Amino acid sequence: MTEPPCIHGRLSVAPMMEWTTPPARYFLRLLAPNVRLYTEMVPAVALWHGAAERFLPFHPAEHPVAVQFGGSDPQELAHAARLAEQWGYDEVNLNVGCPSDRVQSGRFGACLMLEPARVADCVAAMQAATRLPVTVKTRIGVDDHDSEAFLDAFVEAVAAAGCRSFIVHARKAWLSGLSPKENREIPPLDYLRVHRLKARRPDLEVAINGGIADAVTLREQLQWVDGAMIGREAFSNPYVLAQWDCMLFGGELPGRRAVVTAYLPYVEARRREGVPMSQLVKVLMGLFNGLPGARAWRRTLTEGSQQPGAGPDVIERALKCVAHGEAA
Ligand SMILES: Cc1cc2nc3c(=O)[nH]c(=O)nc-3n(C[C@H](O)[C@H](O)[C@H](O)COP(=O)(O)O)c2cc1C
Repeated sequence: MTEPPCIHGRLSVAPMMEWTTPPARYFLRLLAPNVRLYTEMVPAVALWHGAAERFLPFHPAEHPVAVQFGGSDPQELAHAARLAEQWGYDEVNLNVGCPSDRVQSGRFGACLMLEPARVADCVAAMQAATRLPVTVKTRIGVDDHDSEAFLDAFVEAVAAAGCRSFIVHARKAWLSGLSPKENREIPPLDYLRVHRLKARRPDLEVAINGGIADAVTLREQLQWVDGAMIGREAFSNPYVLAQWDCMLFGGELPGRRAVVTAYLPYVEARRREGVPMSQLVKVLMGLFNGLPGARAWRRTLTEGSQQPGAGPDVIERALKCVAHGEAA
């Protein structure tokens, strides 16, 4: 079955600080050849001050890969979008969904939902600066601004500035009183709200995000919207990405061990560049969850990666803890 093309991808992995790092994205790509990957949020102001080398490098195997920016200054965001194109990204995404205090004090993230005209200016400036598609990741509301009309008005304003593609985390954010973690758990999910947005604006691409952790939910959601974005499940249980990639796009399901083995040369290369082993194994932790030896796998990776001089052999040792077999 051929899926209609869509900018944010039929299936994607959400931007997640400290998780969707370059090594994690490289590994997830080995697992799932067709999913779209998002970077951690990159503050546009950091790029304005010349930190591109720190934030923008990625491996060519990561394509299709989108870079997410946080910011609220059109000039800074335009500069960031220009750099994104120069560095070879496939999409530029603006964060209008993160509720952390640090982000709010910089006046970006979810609090920008309260300033649709500013978001529209930012999107317009970014689009004028790049040929890449500019997408927006947002929530269904903030604080008491959670009416149907509020989200619609926000989307109208940003779409009028030229954004064709929205990723909607299907819960609102409380800007004060809840930690970012609580803001991913306490406000209830409202998938129907996102479906109604798509029904009202069929001309826009809408991807849904939040709480998708099984294939049944994923399939069900994809009947109503153009794409689904997976966050935490991609790390608690990364192998589902391989399964869902096959389910949606076809192809052969790779074995877990084969994917780990294919990751080793990358680990070796990054180790030589000085990337700590703990960062390189983080994405591997949940790979064997539910299978015999999963706990020993995790323990070996955790303890082994903390040893001075640790290298890819830690991963080879950990592999010996998990049973050979079809599932692995
Ligand atoms: C550790 C962590 C870091 C996150 N960092 C970002 C971020 O940088 N930008 C962003 O838009 N969302 C961020 N999020 C939110 C996710 O992108 C996603 O919207 C949220 O986790 C809900 O999806 P899920 O239920 O599938 O996890 C983060 C989530 C987690 C768990």
